[in-house]
Amino acid sequence: MLEAPVAEPEQRTTSQRIAALNRHDKPFHVVLAQQFDRDQIEHLCRLSEMIRAICGDRQGAQFLTTLLSHRRAMLYFIQPSTRTFLSFTAACQILGMPYNEVRNPQTSSEVKGETEEDTIQVLSNYFDLIIMRHPVEGFAERMALKLNQMRRALPIINGGSGKDQHPTQALLDIYTLYRCFTTRQNGERGVPRMREDIFAGKTIAFVGDLKRGRTVRSLVYLLCRYPGVRMQFIAPPELQIESDIIEYVDRYDVEYEFVDDLRHAIGDCDAVYMTRLQDEWDKAGESSRIDYGRYSLTEDMAPLFKPGLAIMHPLPRRHELDSRLDNLPQAKYWDQVRNGMWMRSALIADIFNVDTAIMDHYHSYYAY
Ligand code: CP
Repeated sequence: MLEAPVAEPEQRTTSQRIAALNRHDKPFHVVLAQQFDRDQIEHLCRLSEMIRAICGDRQGAQFLTTLLSHRRAMLYFIQPSTRTFLSFTAACQILGMPYNEVRNPQTSSEVKGETEEDTIQVLSNYFDLIIMRHPVEGFAERMALKLNQMRRALPIINGGSGKDQHPTQALLDIYTLYRCFTTRQNGERGVPRMREDIFAGKTIAFVGDLKRGRTVRSLVYLLCRYPGVRMQFIAPPELQIESDIIEYVDRYDVEYEFVDDLRHAIGDCDAVYMTRLQDEWDKAGESSRIDYGRYSLTEDMAPLFKPGLAIMHPLPRRHELDSRLDNLPQAKYWDQVRNGMWMRSALIADIFNVDTAIMDHYHSYYAY
């Protein structure tokens, strides 16, 4: 019997798309930031903290490497990456999960005419998880739906899809914000809870190429889950955030404004999320005409910073983030890099249901 055709993602509502990607009310494939609700985000942030603590000694690190030694991961990264690729490989190593990689399709049978769809289906026979970075929006989602129809369904994690989404970056970003803005309550033991009002009254500014920055899009989706958060979108008019994101922000009643110059806004910010010009998407060098100076954070602005400001950047950076700021306590972008390894470990552990074993181990040996 012929399989029913898979509807293209664009024809589905967001709820239908999430339903096709989730299993048992939690993400199975990780493709869209909208798959994560507040409880899931808190669970992953606290699990990241536990993995970080457990990894701090040999006995704990050895325990973690037993958890997924019977599973295998494939990293199919056909777009350049340093952080996402290496933090996922480190996460696999932390959990004892052997992995393999395809980074250059010129070394695969795609040069003989095999389609990428067929390649992914082949990979699905050898591995238990596919982590994917791809230049085409929707490709990871399309493959997830395709694998859902196969006998041996396995999860796909989107490690960056075109200009569209980068959900695991958003998770590590929100984990970084959780670490910046969470204080232990009186009598609270172990890893602190992530309060629902963690971002209430906080102003988070997104700066730079917001039109083509997939990390910003995914992080906005997550932050909309938190009541009272305020957003500023600080970008050249031609690179302002797309209307679909603004419609989403409106749906969640988030207070926001558009700003044209970072210097005017920086003094009000609790977090500033810098991004580089994404000129790899230019068709004819059009963004070379843009004056990016007004969307750059420079050392002379430091006196304007709030003491608790979190300066963030998904990296790589160019001159929009002055390296003379690197040693300020407000600079959190190197923390983001390391947090990505813990968060990606937590995510894989959660997908494969070894999160409870980690929590039990943490509460037995590390909680105080
Ligand atoms: N932040 C980020 O996605 O970096 P890479 O492109 O190096 O993976």
